[in-house]
Amino acid sequence: MEFQNKVIDEAVQGTATVLESKNNEGRKVYIESYGCQMNFSDSEIVASILTGKGYQTTQHLEEADVVLVNTCSIRDKAEQTIRQRLTVFNKEKKKKPELIIGVLGCMAERLKTQLLEEEKIVDIVAGPDAYRDLPNLVAQVDEGKRAVNVILSKEETYADISPVRLLSNGVTAFISITRGCDNMCTFCVVPFTRGRERSRNPESILAEAQDLFNKGFREVTLLGQNVDSYLWYGEDGLKKNYETLSEEEKAQSTTFAKLMEKVALISPQLRVRFSTSHPKDITDEFLEVMAKYDNICKYIHLPVQSGSNCILELMNRGYTREWYMNRIDKIKEIMPDCAISSDIIAGFCTETEEDHQDTLAMMDYVKYDFGYMFNYSERPNTLAQRKFKDDVPQEVKSRRLAEIIAKQNQHSLERNKAYVGKTFEVLVEKTSKRSENELAGRTSQNTVVVFPKENYNIGDYVTVFITDCTGGTLLGKAVG
Ligand code: SAH
Ligand code: SF4
Ligand code: F3S
Repeated sequence: MEFQNKVIDEAVQGTATVLESKNNEGRKVYIESYGCQMNFSDSEIVASILTGKGYQTTQHLEEADVVLVNTCSIRDKAEQTIRQRLTVFNKEKKKKPELIIGVLGCMAERLKTQLLEEEKIVDIVAGPDAYRDLPNLVAQVDEGKRAVNVILSKEETYADISPVRLLSNGVTAFISITRGCDNMCTFCVVPFTRGRERSRNPESILAEAQDLFNKGFREVTLLGQNVDSYLWYGEDGLKKNYETLSEEEKAQSTTFAKLMEKVALISPQLRVRFSTSHPKDITDEFLEVMAKYDNICKYIHLPVQSGSNCILELMNRGYTREWYMNRIDKIKEIMPDCAISSDIIAGFCTETEEDHQDTLAMMDYVKYDFGYMFNYSERPNTLAQRKFKDDVPQEVKSRRLAEIIAKQNQHSLERNKAYVGKTFEVLVEKTSKRSENELAGRTSQNTVVVFPKENYNIGDYVTVFITDCTGGTLLGKAVG
């Protein structure tokens, strides 16, 4: 172990002092992640930073010296779940007083010192841009000091850090391409917890994707809160408004469409996915690139949030229902086989029955393949909390949400039924939960397929004939 830690020290971090790595030698860190894919991706960066300083990761809470929980603030329920986990960790600390508990991510950023100083249920607070400081923060706790870093950065992208793939299946991986968000949707806490939007150097993204491919990975998902606004111009990626660039500057810049094409060209055997697209920013140029390459998966997550123009305006989403429908038409025109999913919020401030019907009508128009659906949850300090009244009664929100979910379930089932009798190329990711003798993977359209294992392996591309389905899964049999 000693040799391995030293190598990681030099390769990843370089700056670790001998003293630090001796102190941390064999110290075990347990990391739990909540929230969006970006948080799971960030935890891999955290693991890389700490293993670079001599720590080992563990999947067993009982053997941990340091417990880190990477948190989400998107809805009140998300924060409540994390609070329950912090109670469990504090029980563990009663048995083992030297255990260090750290809170990372969006809730750390939102609550700043509250969990440490007022509630006294954690030892470390580190916001999303402070992970390079984690070894120091632990060292401060070792010395009996308070350890907080919630400084947000305009530049940090962790571009040089090679993530340690946690709980990896060795086939699929996330790559962050932007951090933060500049959109200021009125309901959303993300711009406050993640800070200003910044794009990551395209060279480092391509190098990471190539490295994953060389290691046997067969699918990468490019992550950002709004991937379509990815833009790198000049040597330091100086963010400018694309529309204000000269023709020459435009030619030299890397847009999301260009980045996507470069990643797709790494190998036809490497599938590329992306999330999340923003309806106001998704361009025809990007859709053309998507259509051109078979290995760019035919699946777009394009959250609509609401089907009502009045609500979309109050949400500050930057598009109308007509604009959104135009984007859907374009996607279906260029890629008839493309799957589309959405996020929908029920019961946003002032939402009337008519607004709600507009949302249901939008769902009928698009017929989403999947959906992520939520009750509106007021978040402290957002514009909606400061300016509007959370005036839709809980029972009305819940009834509307139930109607939205029922419609989505019906659409998902219809879509899956339409896939029966067709053949799809499936990238195998794991053994099925149902049986050792079955494999599970996904189609390009992101639908899960389960089929008998025969002689196939995880990481294989297999052509599967679909024989049956449930609401969430396709069942099939390999054909050649
Ligand atoms: N950047 C992505 C979404 C990130 S948050 C986008 O713009 O689409 C994921 C989803 O959580 C959002 O799409 C929204 O549907 C939901 N969400 C965000 N804030 C919420 C809130 N206050 N209450 C309920 N749902 C919320
Ligand atoms: Fe939140 Fe809107 Fe940014 Fe998405 S685009 S993260 S919903 S502010
Ligand atoms: Fe949650 Fe933060 Fe992601 S609030 S959804 S973890 S950006």
